[in-house]
Amino acid sequence: MAPEKSAEAVGLLRTFERRFLAARALRSFPWQSLEEKLRDSSDAELLLDILQKTVRHPLCVKHPPSGKYVRGFLSELIRKHEAVHAEPLDELYEALAEVLTTEESSQGHRSYLLPSGDALTLRESSAIVSHGTTGLVTWDAALYLAEWAIENPAAFASRTVLELGSGAGFTGLAICKECRPRAYIFSDCHSRVLEQLQGNILLNGLSPEPPPPPGHSPPGSEKPTVTVAQLDWDLVTGPQLSAFQPDTVIAADVLYCPETIRALVRVLRALSAGPEGRRAPDAFVAFTVRNPETSRQFTAELAQAGIRWEAVPRHGQKLFPYDEHAEMAILKLTLPAPQTHMET
Ligand SMILES: C[S@@+](CC[C@H](N)C(=O)[O-])C[C@H]1O[C@@H](n2cnc3c(N)ncnc32)[C@H](O)[C@@H]1O
Repeated sequence: MAPEKSAEAVGLLRTFERRFLAARALRSFPWQSLEEKLRDSSDAELLLDILQKTVRHPLCVKHPPSGKYVRGFLSELIRKHEAVHAEPLDELYEALAEVLTTEESSQGHRSYLLPSGDALTLRESSAIVSHGTTGLVTWDAALYLAEWAIENPAAFASRTVLELGSGAGFTGLAICKECRPRAYIFSDCHSRVLEQLQGNILLNGLSPEPPPPPGHSPPGSEKPTVTVAQLDWDLVTGPQLSAFQPDTVIAADVLYCPETIRALVRVLRALSAGPEGRRAPDAFVAFTVRNPETSRQFTAELAQAGIRWEAVPRHGQKLFPYDEHAEMAILKLTLPAPQTHMET
């Protein structure tokens, strides 16, 4: 019988699996710990296990990351092995040979394991900015917000959720799979982003539909009604926003320049102007604090628009492989009660 793996080896395998499937930067992998473990043991069992959890993982076989990424990963694994063992390991070279001829692509798949045992796979760009947009990759705040949502499903269950600046679609897909919303409206302004978003929704077994009439919910449906809307914060009108009638509004990593922040706050303010008797939606905005001045500007614009905010306490579980040293924040916004309409 094979010996039980130590808790340390199990943890290491899990980290390699999650980071590799999500195609995280190779420098973020625990290479040092791997090398130490390889020095301690004389067999190559651990490396073969890592191969199974990464390049040979069924999700990777079906929807691989870019060939360049897989080549870089295997080359590093081979270097680590050869630093401590004299004999080359055939399995690593065979896997490398298989990807040597892969055509170069500016896109690849990234997969994320969900607590339910399900997984999400998205087609994403390899570059953080391409086609003039940042929306073709999943940003860390999207992962962070999804984690919080999974820990707080009541904010989404049986509700209509509107997401602003959905990008590749990770947060929305995670909420659709794990939080049982009644309806989910993905939105973005960029046509290339919307095209990729549609593809990612289909890839995960959901199908975008035309918007249902307000208040309509299909009886007994397990899956939420999913729609994709082209929504530009600079151009959208009050009546267009009112038609969405969301119960919850979310956005991840959408704060950058002063103009964008102003336009976003104008949209949030306008979303509170629903039909009479309807309560204003709950809103949550997640971001990585890269520049404190940007967060200050956002909260100043919120105050000016009469929107109160509070920081959501950091949640407990870490499910997704974002940079743990980065400062992340989620603000819960209290939109003013419906009364005024946005100018069109
Ligand atoms: C940094 S990406 C974040 C994407 C996604 N939420 C995530 O965190 O992975 C910012 C997104 O906001 C969208 N965006 C930027 N300005 C916008 C605007 N004026 N109206 C609507 N969407 C906008 C971009 O197209 C892009 O998809």
